[in-house]
Amino acid sequence: MTALFSPYTIKDVTMKNRIVMSPMCMYSCDNEDGLVNDWHMVHYTSRAIGQAGLIMTEATPVTRQGQISPQDLAIWSDDHVAGLKQLTDSIKKYGSKTAIQLGHAGRKAIYDGDTLAPSAIPFDENAKVPKEMTIEEIKETIRAFKKGAIRAKEASFDIIELHGAHGYLISQFLSPLSNKRVDEYGGSLENRFRFLKETIIEVQAVWSGPLFVRISADEYHEDGNSLSDMVTFSSWMRELGVDLVDCSTGGIVRTPIDVYPGYQIRHAETIKKEAAISTGAVGLITTGLQAEEIIKNDRADLVFIGRAFLRDPFWPRTAAKELDVEIETPRQYKRSW
Ligand SMILES: Cc1cc2nc3c(=O)[nH]c(=O)nc-3n(C[C@H](O)[C@H](O)[C@H](O)COP(=O)(O)O)c2cc1C
Repeated sequence: MTALFSPYTIKDVTMKNRIVMSPMCMYSCDNEDGLVNDWHMVHYTSRAIGQAGLIMTEATPVTRQGQISPQDLAIWSDDHVAGLKQLTDSIKKYGSKTAIQLGHAGRKAIYDGDTLAPSAIPFDENAKVPKEMTIEEIKETIRAFKKGAIRAKEASFDIIELHGAHGYLISQFLSPLSNKRVDEYGGSLENRFRFLKETIIEVQAVWSGPLFVRISADEYHEDGNSLSDMVTFSSWMRELGVDLVDCSTGGIVRTPIDVYPGYQIRHAETIKKEAAISTGAVGLITTGLQAEEIIKNDRADLVFIGRAFLRDPFWPRTAAKELDVEIETPRQYKRSW
């Protein structure tokens, strides 16, 4: 058996392999209601039939003000739970574990009213100037993450990931480029980490399952957080009981990124070794050989596959063929595999 197709257990959740469908916004809700519809059922369930170990649904806002787009799946209301439960039931029926990425877009939200951020600094010259959050708004938003976690549990997700990457709200607090606060939520590394820390603690008060955090391990800016700052944040996350750091990069400021196959693996590898925490690698991992090399050499614990999974719902099977291993086959497809 290959490393890629070996099972992986975190707390009481065992994935059948190391392959995660990376969270990807589908911008597909009807009527801006944030509810699961046929598209989500078919799209995610297909990747479960395609043998993903874990399916992570798209960034799901915990408040309407925190939506990336009005067409996102949402979890800001109890009305969202039934559809999400139907979705997790369907994915699990076909053998994959389920994760939800809880998020808040902060200054990058597409929202008619005020957008919120640690400081009143727009993302770029075309973006709205966000409102600097009051302490009460900070506490309220952390409570919204907690409520999101309660609803995620009601919807039977196996794993929760907090979206702390790509320049969204958590990432805005972490970064000195977007956080210029002079109170206890800004300034030092400890202070910039406080919003994430309090969110983790509040979520853990209602959620005992595996908890992942996605970060932007490189901000591609000399005044931004360095990889070594991200190692420090990741060590603090380990001490708080976070199970895995999902290592993406970028999105905090508009800047060109040098993108090449596996361009973010080194971030996952460094954080895994230096912060002694499990990591996920993501970003232009498109072949079975590439994914196998990452897991086999212990450079990361999980591989997150994004666009390759959009092109090929059966990506794990494609990877298995390439690695010349046999994997579980849906009974209905036996004659084709
Ligand atoms: C259509 C699309 C939507 C995405 N939405 C999200 C998202 O909701 N949350 C997130 O953390 N990353 C999101 N991403 C980033 C992916 O999860 C992944 O990190 C990125 O595409 C790099 O991996 P890849 O080269 O395998 O696609 C999105 C990417 C795409 C292509």
